[in-house]
Amino acid sequence: MVKVIAIDGPSGAGKSSVSRIVGERLGFLHVDSGALYRIMTWQCLVRGVDTDDPSAVAAESGKIDIECRPEGGAIAYYVGGEAPGNRIRTPEINAHASKVATVKEVRDKVTALLRGMTAHGDLVIEGRDITTAVFPDSPARFYLTASAEARARRRQKEEVEKGIANQSAESVKASLLARDAIDSTRKYAPLRKADGALEIDSSDMTLEQVVETVIAALPEGWRAAQKAK
Ligand code: DC
Repeated sequence: MVKVIAIDGPSGAGKSSVSRIVGERLGFLHVDSGALYRIMTWQCLVRGVDTDDPSAVAAESGKIDIECRPEGGAIAYYVGGEAPGNRIRTPEINAHASKVATVKEVRDKVTALLRGMTAHGDLVIEGRDITTAVFPDSPARFYLTASAEARARRRQKEEVEKGIANQSAESVKASLLARDAIDSTRKYAPLRKADGALEIDSSDMTLEQVVETVIAALPEGWRAAQKAK
């Protein structure tokens, strides 16, 4: 049976780094589910769809084709043969993505894509509703969190390093908290800690400590493929 490690949590909690490294060590494909919501948002904006109009977003979502294929230890995404790259990481996409992610048709489409990825092998998937809605029966479910300050600091550093934006820590924190509020209060599959998921507060932990905590909590046998550091 295909194994799925599910990691949910708010923006900037460290989900991407942790899930990428856990995937590398275990030979599981890394899946960034947020990127799928970002792609849907990007395509809505490119196509001139008003993201404040859920029925327009729902109608357009049916026309967006995303190709998902394994590449370099992760599932890579293509739209019209092109990789979206940093076009889905801008402050503009950040501001619109939470709204697009409230739309049921968008969520159903992304959920179906994610479930279909088990055809490619074992997965480590990061997101907001992986432990509660997409793979609620996985025996390896985690809720990764951190203080708002720690999360904003990490996000800002990441944006500067990637050359995406140079916003103040305060404005990164404000946009992050605004997104958290929408993500955790929406009607369909809101962000919340699933019953039975292991909560990890990474505020005062190193990346390596979080990775080791996740790996140590996996079911017996899942660590068999673990590679040396
Ligand atoms: O993790 P991220 O910042 O790339 O996510 C982008 C947006 O998508 C964010 O508003 C939360 C939303 N999202 C979601 O609703 N469900 C997921 N499984 C992953 C992300």
